[in-house]
Amino acid sequence: DFGSLAPKPPLGWNSWNKYGCDINEAKIKAAADALVSSGMKDAGYQYVNIDDCWAELNRDASGNLVPHRTRFPGGIKALADYVHGKGLKLGIYTSAGSQTCARTMPGALGHEQQDANSFASWGVDYLKYDNCNHDGTPAKQRYQAMGTALAQSGRSIVYSICNWGEEEPWIFGPQVGGDLWRTTGDISDNWNSVLSLLDQQNGLEPFARQSGWNDPDMLEVGNGGMTTTEYRAHFSLWALLNAPLLAGNDLSAMSADTKAILTNRDIIAVDQDWGGSQGRVLRDLGNGTQVWGKPMSDGSVAIVLFNRNGSTSTITTSAAEIGLGGSSSYRLKDLWSKAESTTSGSISASVPSHGVAMYIVRREGTLATPPAPGTYALGDA
Ligand code: GLA
Repeated sequence: DFGSLAPKPPLGWNSWNKYGCDINEAKIKAAADALVSSGMKDAGYQYVNIDDCWAELNRDASGNLVPHRTRFPGGIKALADYVHGKGLKLGIYTSAGSQTCARTMPGALGHEQQDANSFASWGVDYLKYDNCNHDGTPAKQRYQAMGTALAQSGRSIVYSICNWGEEEPWIFGPQVGGDLWRTTGDISDNWNSVLSLLDQQNGLEPFARQSGWNDPDMLEVGNGGMTTTEYRAHFSLWALLNAPLLAGNDLSAMSADTKAILTNRDIIAVDQDWGGSQGRVLRDLGNGTQVWGKPMSDGSVAIVLFNRNGSTSTITTSAAEIGLGGSSSYRLKDLWSKAESTTSGSISASVPSHGVAMYIVRREGTLATPPAPGTYALGDA
């Protein structure tokens, strides 16, 4: 990458999941305002990302992109200034094709340097580069062209590759300067979509690294298609995957439950911590319940007990199963209830249907020297 522009998974907001093409200046500013007033900025959220449909259908006479005249009359530079004035960063979107996915504006294929220069001159900090309407040129070549253009634009711009997992972006992404790469098609605001995306992350763990993140797509938390329990599971598991956490709801009209999910600092801390591997399924019990785990850099392990069943289930694991054997006593923190407890090794919870229990587990007591960060073999007792 370009010297670690995303040493941690990006945290922010993106316009697409809530608004689709129905965006304008006022909505983007309102999102920036709400990031601050909701406490999300204090919890670490930084990016305000404009998705598809922000530009005019045609370039100007010099071939430059033109911000949409009625929906973004002040232009992108003024919006970037506004967002920067709040201590936040601005993201933008285009596609490595002739048009973007919604076909309402030009893509950047063949105009990479000109468009990257526009973004840089406007003060843009983050580019999501989509995959629609291309000409059959291999993805690596198309994404390399933009990676080079961004590097030569004179501004540090995070490079988010949106190739939907189609041409193994986890292989070419780091080679073309990508900071994160979508591993799948689009999320939608329903439980089956969350399950399907989670299952598609299986096996991609080795490709995530600090400054090069697998992206299972943006958050749907608070958009209304799932229950609070389901949104808690969605958020918990995305954090365990070291996913970018890009809220996709109307931040100016959040319920207390939605806000509590998005600002759960213990869970954000799991997402932002790199202990050598993103989270993974440690054990699938074959009955709709799973034990997930992720090593933390301080020697603890973050775990999620995940109930995919239609009714409440008791899920049990052990310190040994999550790679923390060898001690007589363990400290547990429940990251949703905040309750702390001690166990000699067994970890068990009654988990609601489509819900999770999420803990940090750490050794206490007899173990003399904790293993060095990043050296865990999760699942090895
Ligand atoms: C694709 C992307 C989405 C979104 C839309 C916009 O489907 O995967 O995340 O950016 O395009 O049209």
